[in-house]
Amino acid sequence: MRDDQPLPSPLLDRLHALLGPRGLLTDPADLEPHLSDWRNLYRGSTPCVVRPGTVAELAEAVKLCAAAGAPLVPQGGNTSMVGGATPDEGGRQIVVSLARLNRVRDIDPLDMTMTAEAGVVLKAAQDAAAAAGCLFPLSLGAEGTATVGGVLSTNAGGNTTVRYGNARELMLGLEVVLPDGQVWNGLRRLRKDNTGYALRHLFVGAEGTLGFITAAVLRLFPRPRETEVALCAVWDEDAALGLFRRFRDRDEGAVRAFEYMSGEGVGFYAKHIEGGTVPLPGHDHYVLVDLASSRPEAGLRALIEAVLEEALEAGEVLDATIGESEAQRHALWRIREEHPEAQKREGASVKNDVSVPVSKVPELIRRASEACRHLIPGVRPVPFGHLGDGNIHMNLEQPVGMDPAAFLDRSHDIMETVNEVVRDLGGSFSAEHGIGRLKTDMMPDWRGGAELDLMRRIKAAVDPQGLMNPGKVLP
Ligand code: FAD
Ligand code: MLT
Ligand code: ZN
Repeated sequence: MRDDQPLPSPLLDRLHALLGPRGLLTDPADLEPHLSDWRNLYRGSTPCVVRPGTVAELAEAVKLCAAAGAPLVPQGGNTSMVGGATPDEGGRQIVVSLARLNRVRDIDPLDMTMTAEAGVVLKAAQDAAAAAGCLFPLSLGAEGTATVGGVLSTNAGGNTTVRYGNARELMLGLEVVLPDGQVWNGLRRLRKDNTGYALRHLFVGAEGTLGFITAAVLRLFPRPRETEVALCAVWDEDAALGLFRRFRDRDEGAVRAFEYMSGEGVGFYAKHIEGGTVPLPGHDHYVLVDLASSRPEAGLRALIEAVLEEALEAGEVLDATIGESEAQRHALWRIREEHPEAQKREGASVKNDVSVPVSKVPELIRRASEACRHLIPGVRPVPFGHLGDGNIHMNLEQPVGMDPAAFLDRSHDIMETVNEVVRDLGGSFSAEHGIGRLKTDMMPDWRGGAELDLMRRIKAAVDPQGLMNPGKVLP
């Protein structure tokens, strides 16, 4: 069926008969929250939102849509930073929300696994693990809304990658509804399983272009019994890296997160977030370090104090505060976690979710900031993020007083300017947010030739009709 042809109305009737009123939304007010992305970059339209209550319902719905040639857009918590879960403007793409598949099916504290459905919210997965005396370590600012299916489909990173890896490393098995409606049950909870191509890894990071993840076996870890969190003002970007090295050299296993923030970004937090106080105001560079151990008397307080003292003496750290209670640790983390929201409230911004080898982070921040200031005088660089992974959000805030739309019109130039530095440093143009709709045009340049060709052949083999999340990932 051609893209500009309306969907056959019998399809909606059949979906309604299959799913009932809870499982099929058509009222414009109900469709509204599903049509635009968190950053408000895109606004699409859809004839309906399919909300299956079971995997079998989803499989049947997918069969009906495949028979009618209807394109499908999987949606979890709709927190994508790259427009990945938003339908296009054509009005034919059907949004499929996984929200009702939200059961934790099983937790096994001996195998250290949890089997969770795609619509389980990340925070609920963490809570379920904690209730069983374990830890599910994936953690990011959107964890109150993002879902298990969404974080796996984007191979999300977040704040604890430095210790536990990306979402991919936390997944042992998957259940998937394929584009023709077949259900593949690969929910194996095995640490070792070399049985041909590791198909589960195809769907992680595929951003909904190959099928629907409906459930996953996730890895759990022992819960931390001791934690320490410190906010440190550091001299410059090199000092931030130097501090990371000190902690890593002393006890690599203790570092759960190591996050960089610029003075500008911390200032936006203080300005825009309710109750947003900063204990060490007025510095240009900050680091948030989080240590954790599952051993009850791990000596983390002595460790953090010793390393900070060394770094103070070396002139790397200018000042530091250590959280004295759970509430204080939470307040320190809030400064970091509210960065995206604070930046949004300050005005228009262009995000560059990029990565470089960890050793190149200071050079990335300095060179990209300088190049962008040169490109747009008055632009405000707000680099922050996962220094320990070499993944910096090299974000740019509009100059004060500039028309936001005029600034966003320069998005492409800004991204190109940052990417030039990233390329020179041997990095990637997308570290953890994925490609979605925003970065498809960059794929030929960065991943062209054999790599993109192979991706296209995989797509054609798994989804020959091209119905899964069209217009995303592959240009
Ligand atoms: P959605 O946004 O709904 O979907 C994301 C993509 O996955 C889309 O392409 C969608 O089609 C597809 N998809 C969703 N569910 C399924 C499924 N069940 N099967 C197949 N495809 C599916 N990301 C990071 O990596 N690290 C961070 O630190 C981080 N911080 C964030 C902070 C904020 C405030 C926000 C708003 C976002 C942040 N993100 C971060 C981005 C985002 O990628 C993550 O929030 C999360 O991975 C998306 O989950 P979701 O359920 O909202 O997925
Ligand atoms: C985060 O780490 O907070 C997000 O991934 C970054 C962003 O909003 O650019
Ligand atoms: Zn991030």
